[in-house]
Amino acid sequence: MIQKIAVLTSGGDAPGMNAAIRGVTRYADCKGIAVEGIAHGYAGLIAEEMRPLDRRAVGETIQRGGTFLRTARCKEFFDRNVQERAAKFLRRRQIDALVVIGGDGSMKGAQALSSFGMPTVVIPGTIDGDMIGTEYTVGLDTAVNTVLVSVNKIRDTAVSHDRVAVVEVMGRHAGFIALYSGLAVGAEAVLTPEKPVDLAALCGDLLASHGMKKRSSIIIVAEGAANSGTVVDYIREHTYLEANLTVLGYIQRGGSPTAYDSIMAGLFAQKAVDTLLAGQYNCVIGSVGQKIAAVPYEEAHTVRLKFDTNIYKLIHQLGK
Ligand code: ADP
Ligand code: F6P
Repeated sequence: MIQKIAVLTSGGDAPGMNAAIRGVTRYADCKGIAVEGIAHGYAGLIAEEMRPLDRRAVGETIQRGGTFLRTARCKEFFDRNVQERAAKFLRRRQIDALVVIGGDGSMKGAQALSSFGMPTVVIPGTIDGDMIGTEYTVGLDTAVNTVLVSVNKIRDTAVSHDRVAVVEVMGRHAGFIALYSGLAVGAEAVLTPEKPVDLAALCGDLLASHGMKKRSSIIIVAEGAANSGTVVDYIREHTYLEANLTVLGYIQRGGSPTAYDSIMAGLFAQKAVDTLLAGQYNCVIGSVGQKIAAVPYEEAHTVRLKFDTNIYKLIHQLGK
């Protein structure tokens, strides 16, 4: 019987993480389960930074980006002895299960704790969108909307100066932020890790479209696809066009979560608690075919957000 759980946020922060913490805390309270919050991700777990979370502790947090529990990237947690000590600490503090809110790396940490007998569930939280076990990760929609607002501002100056604006976005080894923002902003092209990068072809397309009276262009580059500085240099060297670079960086990780991210965070949180109450542990709470599901870790590899080649092609068809 689950009587007390702990929750932590880990890895890259993402808008909606606070909504997820709030959802876990308040829904668990509805079910008579006590909640403890662990600060600074697995680093805080190792340091035994844990304190009770009640309904008031999560008040006025749903609208805030980032994570009020703080997060961390913690190399020490790759050590099996450290993982075992962390599991023992949780058991010593009568924690029946741990809810981890984070990305694919954080899920590996949760799996490690499970291997030492500490039940875990993972709520997918990363702006990258690239986790196994789910077709959606909390933070992706907010990041895409942040890119939309930012690129629309960049477009103003590109149009005013007849320039090619190259914009680098995050996503680590995935191109989902670039793909969705590319269509949303009406980019002329996107470069993503999932597709071959051909700078000669890109320049050919730019010269063709600018030869048809196009005055400015937006090129979105996923950080995992190419060195965006190299892309700008190549355009400058192989065309007459004026190109410049904006690296959006960490602005994509901040900001108040969109409605969609707040809603998904709440639904993921509810499912996480219900899954534990049903006696099902060691799974990632995922969006699978538009439904919220608990996917056992050993089956998670069968579910992931698919790179939509149709969107990729449509961006280039509409961008000319
Ligand atoms: P994200 O969860 O956003 O992908 P990271 O990949 O940095 O972020 O992972 C976050 C933390 O999860 C790491 O700093 C580390 O503490 C833990 N972690 C990642 N991979 C593993 C692993 N294979 N085994 C144990 N812990 C891991
Ligand atoms: O995983 C989320 C993310 O923002 C990636 O898109 C990015 O490459 C990485 O984190 C940056 O890591 P850090 O916050 O450690 O610099």
